[in-house]
Amino acid sequence: MQNFDYQTPTRLIFGKDVISSLPDVMKPLGKKVLMTYGSGSIKKLGLYDKVKELLANYEIYELSDIQPNPKYDPSVLDGVRICKEKKIDVILSVGGGSVLDCSKAIAAGATYEGEPWDLISYKVKAKAALPIVDILTLAATGSEYDCGGVISRTETNDKIGYVDSLLFPVCSILDPVYTFTVSKKQTAAGCADAMNHIMEQYFTEDTTLLNDGFCEAGLKSLMVNAKKCLENPEDYTARAEMMQACTYGCNGIYALGNSASGWPCHGMEHALSAYYDITHGEGLAILTPRWMKHILSDRTLERFVKYGVNVFGIDSSFEPYEIAEKAIEETYHFFESIGIPMHLKDVGIDESRLSEMAHHIAVNEGLESAYVPLSEQDILDILKASL
Ligand code: NZQ
Ligand code: ZN
Repeated sequence: MQNFDYQTPTRLIFGKDVISSLPDVMKPLGKKVLMTYGSGSIKKLGLYDKVKELLANYEIYELSDIQPNPKYDPSVLDGVRICKEKKIDVILSVGGGSVLDCSKAIAAGATYEGEPWDLISYKVKAKAALPIVDILTLAATGSEYDCGGVISRTETNDKIGYVDSLLFPVCSILDPVYTFTVSKKQTAAGCADAMNHIMEQYFTEDTTLLNDGFCEAGLKSLMVNAKKCLENPEDYTARAEMMQACTYGCNGIYALGNSASGWPCHGMEHALSAYYDITHGEGLAILTPRWMKHILSDRTLERFVKYGVNVFGIDSSFEPYEIAEKAIEETYHFFESIGIPMHLKDVGIDESRLSEMAHHIAVNEGLESAYVPLSEQDILDILKASL
């Protein structure tokens, strides 16, 4: 087992009506609030009005219209400007992972005198960040329990995972009821995203029985509950279990002591959504089975066998390669069964920029040190197989 150093300072408040805790959570953090949100789903939910009512005696400024795959320009830049001009004390993110990720970049940029991109691109290490509280409305990214945010810069086709321990939310308010209105498309994409977070931690070396068990249970929980959520969007128990599994997914807790995997599918997907602005979870679902096929070898076989037997219940008496190939097929069919388009061309990506994207990924994502190292040619092969 590898050494590890783990600390998550984020308080999780989970369950029905936990929004009532908001005033107590906000009280020690200051009176000037930047409330961040997306394109209006929180207004339809009644959450916008609820927050205003609960924080009636606060000075609230707003940054709205934060888009999926949140953009540096205008969202991060506008948020930083408001924080500086209004001397904001705390950021309240109300929405999904994109709103929260954007809020994290704003929180760091607000305390930095230079160009916020210096921080996001790791040119400069942030010395401080504003505190962040979030009310999550979509189960997917795990941003509510991690210290990363993913920011896109359109003009350079960059989509960077900006990670810094200063960016853990102070508190995440998690009421599964707020996810009842999430569309089928986003529910399925959220499931695929969280499943891939777990797979990125499972397919590596030095794993332990404990970590493998966590991961396998997490994957099974997501598969069972996503289907239930799709059948009945107001199934509280299914939405709650999905939210819990997603929340743990990106925090690293599923893999403490494992060797680093390099998160190869995320490295590749970030380019797809940077170049084509596609939904992150859909891109991952398309890439995952093709990546699995590409890395299946004598070296990785045992992992795939364990995955196939413990996650999909494949008969362990079959030949190992038969189990592994069946496990990859099952992975594909599960994503397909929850309605995810399973080819790049289905999400508007053709072959014209594959080489350019493969080069961008090879230069920027460090996948030559992944669990199974990926060269530019490997990446291109996986992208082509995903068409
Ligand atoms: O803009 P609004 O109106 O809020 O609508 C959103 C958006 O259109 C909608 N939505 C959210 N909650 C809803 C709802 N619609 C109805 N009812 C609700 N309760 O859903 C759409 C997608 O929202 P978004 O926040 O983009 O989805 P998600 O939470 O999946 O976030 C995706 C982003 O997170 C990044 C991805 O790259 C992508 O940019 N990631 C962040 C990670 C992290 N911080 O740790 C890890 C992930 O790997 C991922 O990369
Ligand atoms: Zn992800």
